[in-house]
Amino acid sequence: MIKRVVRRTTKQVYKHAIKPVLFKQHPDNVHKHLIKVAKHTQRIPAVKRLPKLWAYQAPCLEQTILGLHFKNPVGLAAGFDKDIEMAPTIKNVGFGWMTGGSVTAQPCRGNPKPWFYRLPQSKSLVVHAGLPSDGIVAILQHLATYPASLFTSMPLAVSVAKTNSKETALDEQGITDYCESLRLLNIQNHCQLYEINISCPNAFGGEPFTDPERLEKLLAAIDSLKLHSPVFLKMPIDKPWLEFRELLQVASEHNIQGVTIGNLLKDRSAAHLSEPLPDEIQGSLSGKPTRQISTELIRQTYREFSDRFVIIGVGGIFSAHDAYKKIRAGASLVALITGMIFEGPQLIGEINAGLESYLKRDGFGNIHEAVGVDTHDKKGV
Ligand SMILES: Cc1cc2nc3c(=O)[nH]c(=O)nc-3n(C[C@H](O)[C@H](O)[C@H](O)COP(=O)(O)O)c2cc1C
Repeated sequence: MIKRVVRRTTKQVYKHAIKPVLFKQHPDNVHKHLIKVAKHTQRIPAVKRLPKLWAYQAPCLEQTILGLHFKNPVGLAAGFDKDIEMAPTIKNVGFGWMTGGSVTAQPCRGNPKPWFYRLPQSKSLVVHAGLPSDGIVAILQHLATYPASLFTSMPLAVSVAKTNSKETALDEQGITDYCESLRLLNIQNHCQLYEINISCPNAFGGEPFTDPERLEKLLAAIDSLKLHSPVFLKMPIDKPWLEFRELLQVASEHNIQGVTIGNLLKDRSAAHLSEPLPDEIQGSLSGKPTRQISTELIRQTYREFSDRFVIIGVGGIFSAHDAYKKIRAGASLVALITGMIFEGPQLIGEINAGLESYLKRDGFGNIHEAVGVDTHDKKGV
């Protein structure tokens, strides 16, 4: 009851007082300052527990997937905590799991700034960060400073991409680069899931591994690493179903346990934006424009590959309703970034509380019973 009041109050304060101030500043600066504040406050005992007031847990939201226990299905998507600096804060906010990264083998400054541009009416961000990363060695040193218990109650997925540089442009070098990060992560054994980001639209050399033959080579190399943790593939959402399916087919022949659907939207003409997007703003779209495309790809993937892949649903989740639609389409877990930026940090607890209500309404005892029901039951939510 108290937590519900806190979530509602935070929602109003965020909407009417905090967001108007934040949205007057450049999103690159807001993101940079947020990381600084989180890194500082998550070390102060009295302050670090405050975000817990937004969190929401219920037995019907708990699942064990691929041997990992998730207290709730709502995770942080790749890209918000690139160097895995805010994990304690992310846990306290109420996420059931998080994706760190994308990390790369070599340190990289990313694309020249600006990286981000807001489209408030379209509920979207234009992203052109280009995989900035401290590099895997620095990130592993950093990960080692966290207590092991942090990630036993909030599984950590690490998203791995290839370093954004000329040196990794050839396939062979690109593959070596992915494998170097994965090899070091596997030795240190700090993370519970790997996510292979083949679909970063904003990097040097484009997305070579969204081509089936080249993906085959990358995944064969990853197979030979004999990774200890489950491996997910982060999928592009711009491909027509038959091409998307071809990539799934390739992945199904390798050591890949799941797919994350999906990444940013490159095709602006598919976005139905509510405001003009100047041509000089480079980048791909997050948030609402990705919502329906990703949900449909989840649905089709579940129909054909539900016995082969676990699906993580990502793209345009701003409410429990959006998350539940992805779950009913076939996602066992969901993840978000843009929804939290637009709606506030209490959104995670709101989604979990809302999911519990939807499960009760529809007569499901646990979230896993709702996964994929819309692929055989045409009733919407
Ligand atoms: C600020 C920002 C940075 C991102 N960086 C990455 C990244 O490094 N790696 C990645 O796989 N996806 C990245 N993404 C894509 C997100 O993980 C996600 O797929 C996409 O934003 C759709 O989810 P959303 O609508 O909840 O934001 C980024 C997205 C945003 C908004």
